[in-house]
Amino acid sequence: MSILVLNGPNLSRLGKREPEIYGHQTLEDINLGLVKSFPELNFEFFQTEEEGALLEKLFHIEDKGGYRGVLLNAGALTHYSIALRDAISGVTVPVIEVHLSNIYAREEFRQKSVISAVCVGVISGFGANSYHLGVRALIGLLS
Ligand code: DQA
Repeated sequence: MSILVLNGPNLSRLGKREPEIYGHQTLEDINLGLVKSFPELNFEFFQTEEEGALLEKLFHIEDKGGYRGVLLNAGALTHYSIALRDAISGVTVPVIEVHLSNIYAREEFRQKSVISAVCVGVISGFGANSYHLGVRALIGLLS
């Protein structure tokens, strides 16, 4: 079972970026943690600072086939990218929205996600564990 873990802008800076909000783990640490916790799964990891590249990756795996789901932390694109929303609603692969921080407990502009309605579900506020919970949710969904 192949799963794409897709991360958007600024998530490459985890570990250095506002650790009081996002924790001390790097994105690499989080990715390695997933591989270790779910050895039976085949993960692909992709991070980009660019909106277009995020969309293209989603289309690429949709067309290639063989992927059972996507864990998506879209970073700030979550709050304003209608292009990303349209891309998610235009693919058949299930997408789970994840966030390290609890976006509903933060600034007002972060409390709205324009992608939640087209994702299967949302996991927000559990730090790196949000990704693990997202994988569990995906497994549950598929079994
Ligand atoms: C984030 C929350 C977003 O509001 C923010 O722009 C991020 C990270 C999170 O994982 O908590 O870049 O998606």
